[in-house]
This record gives sequence, C-alpha cells and structure tokens, in this order.
Amino acid sequence: MEEIIIKDISELADVAKRIVDKLSESRKVFFYGEVGAGKTTLIKQICSLMHIKDEITSPSYPIINQYFWEYKGVQSSLNHIDLYRLNELEEAISIGIEDCLEDDSYCFVEWPALIEPFAEDKFLKIKILHHGVSSRKILFL
Ligand SMILES: Nc1ncnc2c1ncn2[C@@H]1O[C@H](COP(=O)(O)OP(=O)(O)OP(=O)(O)O)[C@@H](O)[C@H]1O
Ligand SMILES: [Mg+2]
Repeated sequence: MEEIIIKDISELADVAKRIVDKLSESRKVFFYGEVGAGKTTLIKQICSLMHIKDEITSPSYPIINQYFWEYKGVQSSLNHIDLYRLNELEEAISIGIEDCLEDDSYCFVEWPALIEPFAEDKFLKIKILHHGVSSRKILFL
C-alpha cells in the first residue's frame, strides 16, 4: 500500500497528479476520510488536471454533480457523488449509482462505505487522514 504524507495543501497537487495517472486503470475512485479530511479539495485539483473548466462544488443537493467537457476532441463526463447524507443502499440505487459505476464516465465518490457492495477490485481507493492541522496522510488502498 502506497502512503504519502503532505505537509500542507501546496503539496496536494503531486497527489492529484498521481491519481490522474492511475485513472487509466479505472475511472471509478472512492475517497475515504473524515469530515474536513480534504476529499473535495483533492477532487478539485484532480478535475483541474483533467481540464474540467467548470467550478467543482461539493455535492449536497443533488447528491450527484455531473460535469461534461471536451479536451483535445475527446468528450468525457464525470459524476462527483457525496453519499454522506444517505443511510440506505436502496437510496443510492434509486439515484442511479449502479449506472454511474458501470458506464464509462469518471466517477468520484465521497463517503463510499454505503456502496462498498458494488466496489470492484479495479476501482481506485484513496483514504485521507488528518496528520496535524494542515498535514495529511494519503493512503492508496
Ligand atoms: N493538506 C491539506 N489537504 C487538503 N485539505 C486541507 C489541507 N490542509 C488544510 N486543508 C483544508 O481542509 C479542508 C478540507 O475540506 P474538504 O471540503 O476538502 O473536506 P472533505 O473531506 O471533502 O469533507 P466532507 O466530508 O465534509 O465532504 C479545506 O478547508 C482545506 O483548505
Ligand atoms: Mg467533501
């Protein structure tokens, strides 16, 4: 298991780059970590490297934010999902989580524990842990 310690947010770009490089293995990424760990912050930096021009905001209502963009003639889509407010797997199914995980869209999920039953081995799993005020430990599970 790969583990990176960053001293502050300025070092997050390197982590984002590593994750972007791994998206060729799987477009589905689960982001674990407590409230304020930095999941959305990391996703914003990843999206910037992926040339998404829209502003990335934290999904609240709706729980899925969708982005469509074109870069070098290639059209892509991203589903940014935050399951924090859901309690039942059925709710996740009703908002279309299975399609998101099966189609060819990029899919970044915060608070993915609920949909663990749908996780495939090839999905990327990133865990962010507080490691002091601005320092973070990032695990590639
Ligand atoms: N090294 C760091 N990496 C990421 N975020 C950091 C770091 N240092 C400080 N922060 C700050 O921590 C906060 C992380 O908030 P963020 O919304 O990204 O967390 P989150 O994990 O998405 O939380 P939630 O579970 O509520 O969605 C931001 O205010 C960010 O500026
Ligand atoms: Mg968040």
